Amino acid sequence: MNAYKTVLVTGGAGYISSHATLALLQAGFDLVVLDNLCNASAESLRRVAQLSGRAPVFVQGDIRDRALLDHLLAQHWVQAVLHFAGPKAVGESLAQPLSYYSNNVGGTVNLCQAMAAASVFTLLFSSSATVYGDSATVSITEDQPLGQITNPYGRSKFMVEQLLGDIVASDKRWRVALLRYFNPVGAHESGQIGEDPNGIPNNLLPFVAQVAVGQSPELAVFGHDYPTLDGTGVSDYIHVVDLAEGHLAALKAIYSCPGMEVWSLGTGNGYSVLQLVRAFEAASGRHVPYRLAERRPGDVATCYAHPGKAAAELNWISKRDLHSIMRDAWRWQSQNPDGYRG
Ligand code: NAD
Ligand code: WQD
Repeated sequence: MNAYKTVLVTGGAGYISSHATLALLQAGFDLVVLDNLCNASAESLRRVAQLSGRAPVFVQGDIRDRALLDHLLAQHWVQAVLHFAGPKAVGESLAQPLSYYSNNVGGTVNLCQAMAAASVFTLLFSSSATVYGDSATVSITEDQPLGQITNPYGRSKFMVEQLLGDIVASDKRWRVALLRYFNPVGAHESGQIGEDPNGIPNNLLPFVAQVAVGQSPELAVFGHDYPTLDGTGVSDYIHVVDLAEGHLAALKAIYSCPGMEVWSLGTGNGYSVLQLVRAFEAASGRHVPYRLAERRPGDVATCYAHPGKAAAELNWISKRDLHSIMRDAWRWQSQNPDGYRG
């Protein structure tokens, strides 16, 4: 039995959100998806509907459009919001900081104003482990001091966390979950939905997949002299379906948690860049040529979640291992070599 019935999913046609949308539809929620399609295709939602046997209401539009939000929240009797919308590329945010602050900070302010006006006070926010910055510890708990964030994207996420804390403090009706994702990877096991990056991917696994199919000649491994098992950086890669299930668990939990809660969504395990490359090669049967390159500014040697708080409070842990991640990533990539354009 779901405590909420109708949920608005902002940015719901995207990579993580399409998997969350599928999980929520399968769990019986009614969904309204608002996405401006700046980094997505409506084809993802068509496939989600096919997989779940139920279609979300889809509205193409922008979270900064207040009149549209007012209309959607009222017309569909929305009770809770999953807020994914916003750009996410660290490099792009350095070149276009105002666009990141406008979308991520301005968009969230607009959304919260519209929610309050419509008496919708439950929000799950897609935050990021990037808010932990250059942490001194490697197994990161939610009470870790934040800061030392090196780019406008990360700072925009940090600012949103702060502003959400302020509105929760000002009005006891709010229930807000800050979900700090580690490194989402993989695809739905059907091979029907997955990550479809525009142009050259920003993140490691989509880039590895492009090298494997010959769309890029080789991978540059950023840093080979870190104090790790093989000298390359160690990160916490979480299967996107596990992450989607984390949203379902958080939505159920927040119903009985007034105020603001923070949950890191990660696996608690770290893998190095070269371990990830070898696991991809094993799952795909493809060779991934690589060269060792300089460290990338802003990277850390080792970073993974301490998943204890989410396990205790959400009754959620990640279940899918590195092999499943690679198998599902490869199934998506090989069945959809041109992504949703195919
Ligand atoms: P994505 O780009 O696939 O999804 C974001 C979606 O939001 C896209 O469908 C895009 O078209 C839409 N969108 C962007 N701006 C919008 C606006 N102003 N109005 C309406 N729709 C808009 O990205 P993703 O990887 O699925 O990330 C989803 C969320 O999770 C983002 O907030 C991102 O910052 C956060 N996050 C992502 C990662 C990651 O590594 N992928 C890690 C931590 C946090
Ligand atoms: C992982 C590892 C790289 C590319 C980023 C954002 C973070 C969050 C998740 C949104 C690192 C190495 C990478 C390449 C490489 N996103 N690498 N060659 O940096 O942990 O996190 O995505 O919130 O904010 O910063 O992920 O996939 O870029 O890198 O060697 O071509 O792969 O150095 O060790 P990252 P990533």
